[in-house]
Amino acid sequence: MMKYSNGKGKIISNREVAPDHYKMEVEAPTTFGEALPGQFVMVKVSDGVVPILRRPFGIFQTNKDRGSFEILYRKVGEGTRLLADIAPGVNLDILGPLGTGFDLDLSGDNPILIAGGVGIAPLYMLAKELVSAGKQVKVLFGSRGKNDLLVVDELKTLGIELLIATEDGSEGFKGYGTGLLEELLERGEEISSVYACGPEPMLEKVDKIAISHNLICQLSLEAIMACGFGVCLGCVVKTCTKDKDREFDYNRVCCEGPVFNAGEVIWDEA
Ligand SMILES: Cc1cc2nc3c(=O)[nH]c(=O)nc-3n(C[C@H](O)[C@H](O)[C@H](O)COP(=O)(O)OP(=O)(O)OC[C@H]3O[C@@H](n4cnc5c(N)ncnc54)[C@H](O)[C@@H]3O)c2cc1C
Ligand code: FES
Repeated sequence: MMKYSNGKGKIISNREVAPDHYKMEVEAPTTFGEALPGQFVMVKVSDGVVPILRRPFGIFQTNKDRGSFEILYRKVGEGTRLLADIAPGVNLDILGPLGTGFDLDLSGDNPILIAGGVGIAPLYMLAKELVSAGKQVKVLFGSRGKNDLLVVDELKTLGIELLIATEDGSEGFKGYGTGLLEELLERGEEISSVYACGPEPMLEKVDKIAISHNLICQLSLEAIMACGFGVCLGCVVKTCTKDKDREFDYNRVCCEGPVFNAGEVIWDEA
């Protein structure tokens, strides 16, 4: 049984941190402060009828001392455009924390976190907690160009090793974050586990790399969500099954996910 709250959260701040990317801090009931890295919240972005559905966002970090949590989001459509325009002081309708978080017990001593774009959002809190647990954390962060990199200063203060990849070569490795991962593997670097969040093609590639190198790996998926708590079945993905009478299972990204283990998701159908 999932433990989550539905309530009001007062916006403490909501500011643009990079072109079309925003960080919002929300004062919220204590259950939100207990969120695990990888869990998410559903946010009603407007008091009006449109858009009617809440929007899902990964929890960037919780601030237990301040009784708040933060999200990092990209303006992509109507809902996030409305969200970006909301001023501090306004009360938001929020539901969370939802979904399964990353399993920190799988990390081993040398975990790698790989993010594509705003996929860095749930990995930031994971990096923080792994560092607190004494792990040697490497974060591979891929973006289109250096202007699209997010929260780099915050990442640098965590005590992690940050490796950047940009598609246009304007900073760090020229190419994708997955290219960096392949380089580390070729160099024989110690990698005890991989955690990933980003666009689906990136996750599929990480999944393939992890399987071929026999790496422990968890992937955080996105899906269009209506309810966020398992009722509408709008977010299902096909997953491998152990049942010999079935070809596949359906899993809800909002409940069984958003975090899945490598080898679980059937990508062609996801
Ligand atoms: C578990 C989860 C965690 C997420 N965490 C974050 C986060 O931390 N930061 C962030 O910026 N975004 C995150 N997203 C994606 C975010 O929910 C969507 O970008 C948002 O709902 C778009 O709303 P909109 O009304 O602005 O866009 P719409 O007008 O509804 O759509 C604009 C475009 O975005 C696509 N889109 C809409 N919803 C989703 C979705 N749920 N997943 C993928 N693509 C979508 C649409 O297909 C369309 O192309 C997350 C999604 C999920 C499922
Ligand atoms: S969003 Fe409704 S079941 Fe997942």
